[in-house]
Amino acid sequence: MYQIVQKEKLHEIIYSMWIEAPQVAQSVQPGQFIILMVKEKGERIPLTVADFDREKGLIRIVFQIVGKTTEELSTLEEGDRLFSFIGPLGRKSEIEHYGTVVTVGGGTGIACIHPISRALKEAGNKVISIIGARTKELIIMEEELREASSYLWITTDDGSYGRQGFVTQVLKELLEQDKTIKKVWSIGPAIMMRVTCETTRPYAVDTLVSLNSVMVDGTGMCGSCRVTMGGETKFVCTDGPEFDGQLVDWIEFMHRLSRYQEAEKRSWDLYHELNHPCTCGRRTN
Ligand SMILES: Cc1cc2nc3c(=O)[nH]c(=O)nc-3n(C[C@H](O)[C@H](O)[C@H](O)COP(=O)(O)OP(=O)(O)OC[C@H]3O[C@@H](n4cnc5c(N)ncnc54)[C@H](O)[C@@H]3O)c2cc1C
Ligand code: FES
Repeated sequence: MYQIVQKEKLHEIIYSMWIEAPQVAQSVQPGQFIILMVKEKGERIPLTVADFDREKGLIRIVFQIVGKTTEELSTLEEGDRLFSFIGPLGRKSEIEHYGTVVTVGGGTGIACIHPISRALKEAGNKVISIIGARTKELIIMEEELREASSYLWITTDDGSYGRQGFVTQVLKELLEQDKTIKKVWSIGPAIMMRVTCETTRPYAVDTLVSLNSVMVDGTGMCGSCRVTMGGETKFVCTDGPEFDGQLVDWIEFMHRLSRYQEAEKRSWDLYHELNHPCTCGRRTN
């Protein structure tokens, strides 16, 4: 179980893996996530399901190396097995026939928005997708997104591919031109999701975001992933990860994301001392 059947390097620090997990593949729905452990003694990390194949019993994950566990995961090869792979977790996206919808993905959020866009299109919606990254090499899964959408816009901050600028600039233009847009989904870095919500607010278009809080158990027991939503406490792992972006307390959310930075850096340094005495680690903060 949990064998890596296919591994692909999408960028120097972004990997895609198809994992054998038939039980998860049977019931997973767009918007849900899994929690995996690379080894018995290690951290549990949540990753969104980027794709699934029910017949073959496979789940696709796409992850970016940001610290010790994602780096350790990237060293596994096809044929290796993960220690654990729990899911599907969280609530599924609310897929219905809305009419015209926009899905926005930034960075590895492009992978997360993929199954949602596809399901929305299958439900008969006109799906306009906007994907963006800092530069061309970081634009991932372009073909999959093209297929999952009715229209695809691409932006890069440096203008090396697609439109120069941020995804939210294209979104603003679309909201100006098309008054039939009913709903927007946005998945990516916290700041991108926050700006998406600021962009849609004047147009009063429902905006859903998928929050990537720091999680431990993923079952609503530990409280690690708590967020404040319109003054109420919610747990991202059981009440989310998808929420009405207009209700999120973004300042608290972004502050809580960085609360373990010291420990994460110690863990990263130790991992590199033990595994790469040459100090080739990429992390600098
Ligand atoms: C529901 C959900 C879905 C996610 N989906 C994806 C995905 O599809 N692809 C992807 O690349 N990343 C995804 N993430 C983020 C991913 O879980 C973190 O990048 C990963 O846990 C970092 O672990 P690390 O040891 O490599 O880095 P660390 O050095 O431990 O941490 C680096 C940063 O990652 C975040 N992080 C650390 N530990 C956790 C944790 N246990 N839970 C959540 N975030 C943490 C923190 O912001 C931290 O500052 C998702 C997070 C959540 C909550
Ligand atoms: S991760 Fe523990 S309550 Fe959500």
